[in-house]
Amino acid sequence: MVARESNDGLDRQTLLTMLRWQLEAGVDEAIQTQPWNRFETSTLPNKSATVATRPSPREIAPKSQKHPASTASGETKVTLEDFEKITTLEELRERLEDFDGGMLKRFATNTVFGDGKAGAKLMLIGEAPGAEEDRRGLPFVGPSGKLLDQMLGAIGLTRADVYITNTIYWRPPGNRTPTPEERNATLPFLLRQIELVAPKVVVPLGGPAAQSLLNESAGITRLRGRWIDFQTRNEAGGLSIPALPTFHPAFLLRQPAQKKQVWQDLRAIRARLRG
Ligand code: URA
Repeated sequence: MVARESNDGLDRQTLLTMLRWQLEAGVDEAIQTQPWNRFETSTLPNKSATVATRPSPREIAPKSQKHPASTASGETKVTLEDFEKITTLEELRERLEDFDGGMLKRFATNTVFGDGKAGAKLMLIGEAPGAEEDRRGLPFVGPSGKLLDQMLGAIGLTRADVYITNTIYWRPPGNRTPTPEERNATLPFLLRQIELVAPKVVVPLGGPAAQSLLNESAGITRLRGRWIDFQTRNEAGGLSIPALPTFHPAFLLRQPAQKKQVWQDLRAIRARLRG
């Protein structure tokens, strides 16, 4: 077969070999809509955009602060106090759209802000958007979302009764777990979002969500099923909401035997919502 040359002078066989190498290395998705020739340094995205604006150690929130204002992996730094004047979810969403979310935001197709209405009695917080969520701009609309809908159905709730979001608003490439730094960077948005929804009960789904929200280092197996008095801020003016961490639906898809424990958590949530 005659090898055809690409615009870059690379023949078909070489391109196929490079593609195969990427597949073997675990690449499962194109994360940019425009092709990017990595051999051509002049086509690299805006250099200043790729350099993380890491803060000096002085800018990082002191250890004693319960919810760090933010750490940085390329994001602009924000604090909960920046959102004092924001009184609706829509305003917060607009603020998030304007926020420089670093590399995660640049690589994501959509910002996945949340689904539901202020005043929802139950707020569920997952880890991060997956591929389907990234495509549609809505949380929990993939396989985990289907199971989550069934879990809600088991206690007589539908999506219309709840508010759903994630610890971060952009899909991490390859669906990796977002780092604590990435989660801290948008935590002030999430805390204000919780204050604006003002639910009766908060449910962190899985370890990263429970650890971020509750400022805990223990794993989900230790945290799940225990009610915690969650405070949105240390000082006056915040909300105090009962929180019950439970297993993430994605974990239940892999380990269906753990559904028994989640069923106990769901019943405890139902009782608390009725009480
Ligand atoms: N997993 C999550 O944690 N969040 C989603 O929105 C989807 C899958």
